[in-house]
Amino acid sequence: MGFGLTTTAYMFKATCELGGEWVVEGVVPYGDLSLSPSSAVLNYGQGVFEGMKAFRTSEGELLVFRPDENAKRCEEGAGRMSMPAVPRDLFRDAVLRTVSANAEYVPPVGMGSLYLRPLLIGTGAILGLGPAPSYTFLVYCSPVASYFKGGQLTPIDLTVEETYHRAAPGGSGSTKCIGNYSPVLKVQLEAKKRGFSDVMYLDAKENKYIEEVSSCNFFCVKGKTISTPSLQGTILPGITRKSICELAAARGFTVEERNVSIDEVMNADECFCTGTAVVVAPVGSVEYKGKTVKFCDGKVGPTSQAMYDELTGIQQGKLPDERGWNVKVPKFPISG
Ligand code: COI
Repeated sequence: MGFGLTTTAYMFKATCELGGEWVVEGVVPYGDLSLSPSSAVLNYGQGVFEGMKAFRTSEGELLVFRPDENAKRCEEGAGRMSMPAVPRDLFRDAVLRTVSANAEYVPPVGMGSLYLRPLLIGTGAILGLGPAPSYTFLVYCSPVASYFKGGQLTPIDLTVEETYHRAAPGGSGSTKCIGNYSPVLKVQLEAKKRGFSDVMYLDAKENKYIEEVSSCNFFCVKGKTISTPSLQGTILPGITRKSICELAAARGFTVEERNVSIDEVMNADECFCTGTAVVVAPVGSVEYKGKTVKFCDGKVGPTSQAMYDELTGIQQGKLPDERGWNVKVPKFPISG
C-alpha cells in the first residue's frame, strides 16, 4: 500500500450559507457530490484542504495527531480565501467521528495510517468573481502507507527548480488552498521523467533560498544545527515541521528558522523533508545547476532516522506523548 486512494464507507459533511450557521449532516456514506457547474470551487478554486493522520496503537486504540493544529490552520485558510471558518470544535468532532465510523480501515500498527482529508469548498453557484453563497465542509479518508516510492525512509532524490516558483510574497503560499498544488505538477512530472522523486522550489525574489518541496517542508542539518526555511508567508506552516522543530530542540539540536540558501544545502551534512503525507523523508541527493550532491552516501542519515523514529513512535503510541499531541478517538454511533 502506498499513497493511493482507497475509498472508505463514510465521510463527514456540514454545510453553511454565507453569513449563516454551519448545519451538520454528520457522518454520511462516502460518495460523489452534486455541484453546480458554476460553483465557486470549480470556477475560481475557492477551497482549502488539510491533511491529517489517525493511527492504531498496539493496544487497539485509535489516535489522531494534533487535530487542533489543523483546525487552526483551516480557520486561517478560510480567512485568506474569504470563506466562513469551520468552528474549531466542529472541525475536531468531524475528524474524530470520521475516524470512528471508518475504524476498520485504520491499518494495523506499523502498517500505515488512516489519512484524513478535511476539505472546505465554496459550493454555491456564482458567475462574477466573489465569495460563494454557500459552502461545504467534508472530511473523507483513505488508508495509506509510504508517500514516496520505495517505502518510508527510502532516501529521495530532489532537483532544484529555477524557472518556476511555487509562491511569491503577498500570495497564497502559506495557505493550504487547493490552487497551490496543481501548478507544481508540470515541473514535478518533468522531474519524475528525469528520475527524480520531487522538486525543490526557491524563493521568487532572489531565486536563492529554499521554500519547500512540492508536497512537504524542508530541513538541512550541519553538525548539531538543524535549519528550516522560516514562515514568511510563502511556505506552508507544516504541523509535522512544527513538531520536528520541537522534538529536535528537545534532543539538544540548535533549531534555526531562517532563510536557508541553496548553497548551504549543497554543503549540508544531511537533509530531510517533513509533512503529514511524507512523514520524515530523508534526502539522498540534490541536483542544482547540473551538480549533484549526495548526502550520507545516499543512505538514511542519523538525524532523519532519529526524527522519524521519535515522531512515528509518538504517533503510534509506542513512545510517551509528553506534549499531549495525540487525541484518542471515542467510539461514536454512526449518525450526525
Ligand atoms: C499532506 O502532507 O497532508 C498534504 O496535504 C500534501 C499533499 C500534496 C499530499
